Amino acid sequence: MSPYFTRQKLAADYCDALTGDGLVDASSGLFLAAPRRTGKTTFLRRDLMPEAVLRQWLPVYVDLWESQQTPPTRLVATAVVNALRIEQSRVADELALKSGMSAAAVTLEDFGLENVGAPEGKTLAVALRTLSEVAGKPVMLVVDEAQEVLNSADDLMFSLKSARDTVGVDAHGARRLFIVCTGSHRDKLLHLVLTKKQPFYGSSVQPFPFLGRDYVDWYTGRINQHLAEDNRFEPDAVFDAFKLVGHRPEILKKIISEIALDEGAAHSLGERLARGAIARQDEIWDEYSRAYDNLSRPQQAVLSLLVEGGPQFEPFSEVTITACSRIVGSTLAATHIQKALDALRKKDLVWRSARGEYALDDSSFGDWFKRKSGMKTDASGTTGDMATPGS
Ligand SMILES: Nc1ncnc2c1ncn2[C@@H]1O[C@H](COP(=O)(O)OP(=O)(O)OP(=O)(O)O)[C@@H](O)[C@H]1O
Ligand SMILES: [Mg+2]
Repeated sequence: MSPYFTRQKLAADYCDALTGDGLVDASSGLFLAAPRRTGKTTFLRRDLMPEAVLRQWLPVYVDLWESQQTPPTRLVATAVVNALRIEQSRVADELALKSGMSAAAVTLEDFGLENVGAPEGKTLAVALRTLSEVAGKPVMLVVDEAQEVLNSADDLMFSLKSARDTVGVDAHGARRLFIVCTGSHRDKLLHLVLTKKQPFYGSSVQPFPFLGRDYVDWYTGRINQHLAEDNRFEPDAVFDAFKLVGHRPEILKKIISEIALDEGAAHSLGERLARGAIARQDEIWDEYSRAYDNLSRPQQAVLSLLVEGGPQFEPFSEVTITACSRIVGSTLAATHIQKALDALRKKDLVWRSARGEYALDDSSFGDWFKRKSGMKTDASGTTGDMATPGS
């Protein structure tokens, strides 16, 4: 496995939040968002899930990007049933007593999960409860890229809420199901918790913290081990570059390896590091700038209102139509807004959920746009200093 900077304390804090013992109470569900390539999945797999194991919980991981064709509920159900099979073989003797099933491998059909798409909240709940009972421990269900549920009519979130409410606590008040959802798009994830229609209404989406100075110190120390004493990277300069590339380890590594390969660069490592990071940032921003310049005036206006409004953006409200008309300088109607949104979707700049909510397809485009137009940027700290390379 590749060398890894561990964040065990953060994992422990999140587990405390899930049990309701932490400063933050995430007992109804933990929702974490951070931009692309900043280390979410790595953290889930290498810190959060091992911490769960230490606490005698059973972590079950599902990535909703795994298959675009498979409905999210089926992906989750498959992961739960696979975990159940493993637990079942481990406790084959106890199984007959606890669930009344034979030790033969369970299938999706055993829980009525073969026809996912139909309202099967109860059956997924039963599968989760059985898993918790068979394993004899609470289950921590980790759904990576959870915003994907919004792309389909699939009701995974309703199933999970039902599972949380029915499986959540045992007769002694101990929790049996913890739900963790992560996503690389905060505004999309927010749609899961913001509206009353959504099952996790009332939960909040927390910014998943970037790797920071401690990571950079660790990483710089490792790199410097391979370099002569008079030719080493300064952690301050590496940290500046890391911030410029949006706290993305891969891009930092790439820039550093390019410099390290260039033997004549010994005297100017810091300067070359900064140049590499800025060049990378310019590349991405030029791409955004070109995409924006190619839009029609109404498309630009709709996009700016979407960036400004975030998840509160209401495309066909009077306020939006009036603001759009003002920006364009002529009277527009809802049909013009619809046309602009359709065009923006075709250009992959705007995304529409199955329920008709709109968001930027690549949240970093919003970061770039806010900077360009002097809008207030996100104060949460998840907004990278650099635009995200694609979404
Ligand atoms: N704690 C860490 N220590 C060292 N490298 C890390 C760490 N976290 C992430 N990385 C590296 O950063 C890169 C991105 O990590 P990861 O895939 O976890 O990000 P992500 O946010 O899940 O990305 P995506 O948005 O594509 O799902 C990987 O190459 C990974 O090895
Ligand atoms: Mg990931």
